Amino acid sequence: MNIIRRPRRSRQSAVLRDMVQETRLSVTDFILPLFVTEGQNVRTEVSSMPGIYRHSLDLILDEVQECMDLGVKTFDLFPNIAEEKKDKYATESHNPDGLYLRTIRAIKDRFPDCVVMTDVAMDPYSSDGHDGVVENGKILNDPTLEVLGKMALAQAEAGADMVGPSDMMDGRVGYIRAVLDNAGYDQVAIMSYCAKYASAFYGPFRDALASAPKFGDKKTYQMNPANSREALVEAQLDIEEGADFLMVKPALAYLDIIKLLHDSFDLPIAAYNVSGEYAMIKAAAQNGWLDGERAMLESLLAIKRAGASVILTYFAKEAARLL
Ligand code: PBG
Repeated sequence: MNIIRRPRRSRQSAVLRDMVQETRLSVTDFILPLFVTEGQNVRTEVSSMPGIYRHSLDLILDEVQECMDLGVKTFDLFPNIAEEKKDKYATESHNPDGLYLRTIRAIKDRFPDCVVMTDVAMDPYSSDGHDGVVENGKILNDPTLEVLGKMALAQAEAGADMVGPSDMMDGRVGYIRAVLDNAGYDQVAIMSYCAKYASAFYGPFRDALASAPKFGDKKTYQMNPANSREALVEAQLDIEEGADFLMVKPALAYLDIIKLLHDSFDLPIAAYNVSGEYAMIKAAAQNGWLDGERAMLESLLAIKRAGASVILTYFAKEAARLL
């Protein structure tokens, strides 16, 4: 056969395949989400996320230590709040003695070199289970910003390096930036959940935090999975308002959005490989239906190939062990 170009030539040995490999995962790409819960010596597995635990503060410090030893040094914290501490205005979110702020202080105190990213959203503390202030069944935008501002400021005061507004209210990046700057926290970064879709893939996360909405859904604030041009609008606004990173969430069903933002803007792109994406691979692997390790690494690589330089993933520790 007269075949001049033969792409298979560079696939014939492991050395050559390595040489032409375009994308590589590194432990420095990862952010590990951590769930913190009240109590002492508590470590309960999330039933829909095998291998992922809610840790009490004392044990979360051991978990951070283990991750630091593996080279995973950035953590995104989420709190599991008792139902009786939840209210309409998520007041517990800025209680300085509350679980979340105590955890940030303890982690930064013991591991000053790690990066602590926070979640800025009302849902874990809201008696309505929504990311905004609810009135007459509606999610109010501007009153929510005031709560988010208090929350982000309290997190910065506790030592957070980066805040992550995950609520999808309009104008929140600019509002939070102004609150932080006015208080002298101009070095605290904002990783904006910029294209966050109203997704079925958050189910296991809501189990982990008991944070599911008490009525309705999140479609008046999270984006319609059918839309990609709208992600450009959200990204443009977040950049103008002062975001340092743009995040796409979920990751695997939204690789086109990751690529779109990567090609359209110059800020680093993060992708959140969410709880449901983790659960799918774990469930299939437990059933012996696919090779869990390979599926994990392939998924993470695909997210990076699409253009994400930062990956928030529950697989961070497991992947770090293999890399
Ligand atoms: C809510 C929030 C959610 C996640 C992170 N922050 C869920 C939601 O929007 O209901 C989901 C993360 C995951 O599924 O892993 N502020």
